[in-house]
Formats: sequence, structure tokens, C-alpha cells
Amino acid sequence: MTGSFAPDCRVIEVDDPRLAAFFDAGQPDIGTVWELCMFFEFDREETVRCIADWIGPPQGVRVLDCACGSGFPALGLAARGYDVTCTDGSRLMLGHFARNARLDGLDLTGLRVPWHELPGRFGGRFDVVLNRGGGNYRYAGVWDRGGLADRTAMAEAIEQWVACLRPGGRLYVDIPPDPGADSVSDSTTQHPTLLLGGHVVDLVERITVEPPTGIRTWHTWLTVDGVTHEFERRAFHIVADELVAILTACGLEDVHVVDVPGEFYDVFCGRKPR
Ligand SMILES: C[S@@+](CC[C@H](N)C(=O)[O-])C[C@H]1O[C@@H](n2cnc3c(N)ncnc32)[C@H](O)[C@@H]1O
Repeated sequence: MTGSFAPDCRVIEVDDPRLAAFFDAGQPDIGTVWELCMFFEFDREETVRCIADWIGPPQGVRVLDCACGSGFPALGLAARGYDVTCTDGSRLMLGHFARNARLDGLDLTGLRVPWHELPGRFGGRFDVVLNRGGGNYRYAGVWDRGGLADRTAMAEAIEQWVACLRPGGRLYVDIPPDPGADSVSDSTTQHPTLLLGGHVVDLVERITVEPPTGIRTWHTWLTVDGVTHEFERRAFHIVADELVAILTACGLEDVHVVDVPGEFYDVFCGRKPR
């Protein structure tokens, strides 16, 4: 196994009340880590704008974000006039969602609906179903507490999302960029230090993929005002061909890559037959 380490010694002063609010909300959790990763990895505004372009004009379009988490991209789309139903299985993430919605001045509630309950509640209802977040299907049911979801859970989850589409409706889903066969299976990134709302925040991420099992471990160390909090999430590594095979097996047509400028992940979409 080879390794790489990319330290970034910069100190950046950040004026972001929404991000700062995570650190005032209490003990950092996996939602805090996720929000920071998003801050470092991609351009929120640009990505929401491009997702909106992909959806088309908001009039008459019913959208489900079934992994709304702390609110991306659901809140940005709602602010642009889309009728977005927001669901997630995690109380913890929905707590962050509620605070972010308030800070954005949006009257929107995230509903607690685990994926296996989606078909019963929302079967055939939506024009667009979004599940954005770097391959959320890999963490089916284990985002909050850690652990390893069964490999079959990925296809089951995607099937449950597809069930919520009306005939002709479209699914939006993503996957982490494939590092390629020659690239390292052990990489560590030290992000710049943030000065944020009176806090000093450091994040180090380490990602390893174990060749025999294909298990990918995402380990993070989040240091806030000198106190370090450690997190670990494990999931099965998946490549784009496997995702496309799952989408096709779910009956989706016209499965293809979508170019979403600003986005960090690779995006795929497919259409439910009419
Ligand atoms: C990586 S976060 C992405 C959140 C958001 N879409 C974003 O991009 O910031 C993954 C989300 O999937 C949710 N999730 C994982 N398993 C779930 C399940 N079985 N049912 C519902 N939500 C689930 C988690 O609670 C978490 O909020």
C-alpha cells in the first residue's frame, strides 16, 4: 500500500455564519465534519445553480431530496422556488437541516423517512428525485452510528428512490471521483486552519481502501479550539460501472453522466420509462 499526505499550512479567516453555527450548536458530530468537507471541496452556489439548470424551470416540478442531510442542495433549490420535499433518516442531520433552514429564512421542514419507507409514502410521486452526497447509498442506514452497510444495501436503496419517481421522472445520484487503478489506496489531507466565528478549526481526513475486501474507510480528526474529535465511517468502494449497472437494473433508461460545474462528485442520472 502506498501513501500520500497533502498538508496545507494556510490559516484562513472565514465569514460564514451558517458554518459557524455548527460550532456553536454543541459537540461536533458527523454533520459538522460533513459540512466542513463540503466547504473545502466544492462551490455550493455554483453547484445548486447547475443542479437547477439540470432540473429545468421550477414551475410544476415536484422534487424529492431523499438524503437532505443538513440541507444541500434542498435548501438552495427551495430558495430558487422549487417545490422540494426533504427527507432523511437521521435525527441528527435533520437537526442541522432545521437550523440551516432557519438561517436561510426558509419555512421548510425535513421529514424523518428512512429509505425503506419511501416507496410506501411517496411511490410514483416525483418528477425528480435527488440523492446527492458522494454516494450516500454506500452508507445506507449507518451514517449516524458508523458500521458497515451490507453490500446489497446500495442497490436496495437506489431501488427505493427510483420507486418514488413518476413514469418519465428523473433520478440524480452521484459517486466519488474514481482515483483510478494506479492511484494511492491511502491518502491523507490536512485542510487549512479556519478562523471561524471565534473558533479555530482544523480538519484532517484519511481515506484508505483495503484491496481484498474493497472496504473504504474515511477517518477524520476535527480539532476545535484545541480539542480533537475523531470520526470513522466505512463503506464499500464502488466504481462508476457498478453504479451504472445498478441504475440500469432498476429499470432506468438513458443513464448518463451529467456535467455539474462546481460539483466535486461525479453525477449520473436516468429516467423512469413512461
Ligand atoms: C453524506 S450525507 C449527504 C447530505 C446532503 N445531501 C449533502 O450533500 O450535504 C448522507 C445522508 O444520507 C442519509 N442516510 C443514510 N442512510 C439513510 C437511510 N437509510 N435512510 C435515509 N437517509 C439516510 C444520512 O442521514 C445523511 O444525511
